[in-house]
Amino acid sequence: MQPRLEEGKDPAVTRATPSRPFPLRLLRFFLLFLVIGVGGSFLSMYMIRHFGIHNVAFVQSSFKPCFQKPAIIENWFKPPSSLLHTMNDVELFWRASFVPRIKSYPFKRTPKIAFMFLTKGPLPMAPLWEKFFNGHEKLYSIYVHSLPSYNADFSLSSVFYQRQIPSQVAEWGMMSMCDAERRLLANALLDISNEWFVLLSESCIPLQNFSIVYRYLSRSRYSFMGAFDEPGPYGRGRYNENMAPEINMSDWRKGSQWFEINRELAVRIVEDHTYYPKLKEFCTPHKCYVDEHYFQTMLTINTPHLLANRSLTYVDWSRGGAHPATFGKNDIKEEFFKKILQDQTCLYNNQPTSLCFLFARKFAPNALEPLLDIAPKVLGI
Ligand SMILES: *[C@@H]1O[C@H](CO)[C@@H](O)[C@H](O)[C@H]1NC(C)=O
Ligand SMILES: *[C@@H]1O[C@H](CO)[C@@H](O)[C@H](O)[C@H]1NC(C)=O
Ligand SMILES: *[C@@H]1O[C@H](CO)[C@@H](O)[C@H](O)[C@H]1NC(C)=O
Repeated sequence: MQPRLEEGKDPAVTRATPSRPFPLRLLRFFLLFLVIGVGGSFLSMYMIRHFGIHNVAFVQSSFKPCFQKPAIIENWFKPPSSLLHTMNDVELFWRASFVPRIKSYPFKRTPKIAFMFLTKGPLPMAPLWEKFFNGHEKLYSIYVHSLPSYNADFSLSSVFYQRQIPSQVAEWGMMSMCDAERRLLANALLDISNEWFVLLSESCIPLQNFSIVYRYLSRSRYSFMGAFDEPGPYGRGRYNENMAPEINMSDWRKGSQWFEINRELAVRIVEDHTYYPKLKEFCTPHKCYVDEHYFQTMLTINTPHLLANRSLTYVDWSRGGAHPATFGKNDIKEEFFKKILQDQTCLYNNQPTSLCFLFARKFAPNALEPLLDIAPKVLGI
């Protein structure tokens, strides 16, 4: 034993290693491989030129490099690694409308919630949302639509980092607002794991922790789109007879723009060609505000049985006027949240409940600090 061990340590032997016959053989083998490879390429080029494209498959499959792993099913619909793309809305909506005809997934799919932020620019409530999302990485995706002129500068560690989608100008009460919402839905639909789609604004906050939100959405039989039939000038009064026969007065609905819908309804909104032109032409300011009627009316006609007809986003209209109340730092008190969180009743899967809202608006940027203070105790965040 001893001499052989010593032999291994001998510097002379070590130095001799490169000229050993084994590596030489390896080199020859490698050269031979190279010759076969180059020869194969020439042969395939020759064959392509002389016998047409049909031979390509044969040549490619017989010279497949061994380090390339065969694709597993997930490779065929991986969400894009970057949210940026150059598709226009026509191309994007077409791509987003793909729906599998076989309904059961042949792989493990963990359904996610797509949180879609429709904003002008900054997200002042971002620190609160960061806390909300923390620890639930596999269960959500984030999409942000802001004015194209706005440059987001979230840090690498932020959940909002590089979650901005290609955006266009969206104006309040105009069809460009619904276009932006459809654009958010379409981008989110590109990820097949997204099952629920929540529309939020920069002034929205979460009212419950993530676990509760996830359970509430995933166990609901209905999607949450505020939709009601309102007699009077601000409801039925905004209906225009030219919308018939696609839309009749009895189907005309009004409701808040802030929704939570499932994948099926998201596809319906993105694929719509029937109601869009009617609303675009006959629901215009200042007589009609399209974001309060388009999806609400369309889904009431298409899929009434899937709608809860209420919104999950609390908003206070009691102060009157065209815009709801904005809450600032002096409003952030425990009693304020008690009113929203407990003193309510609504139906959830046809049963009465006091848990009616998961989100709330509108909150001014100066409400952030007191919100962060109160959140662990009052919101469980
Ligand atoms: C979420 O809130 C509920 C009720 O407030 C609480 O029971 C639960 O532990 C919270 N979950 C997390 C992960 O904090
Ligand atoms: C609207 O009413 C007309 C005439 O009654 C009917 O033919 C049409 O199907 C209705 N449209 C919808 C969407 O129900
Ligand atoms: C929502 O309204 C539609 C008609 O507008 C109705 O068919 C549906 O049952 C309502 N949903 C619930 C949960 O009551």
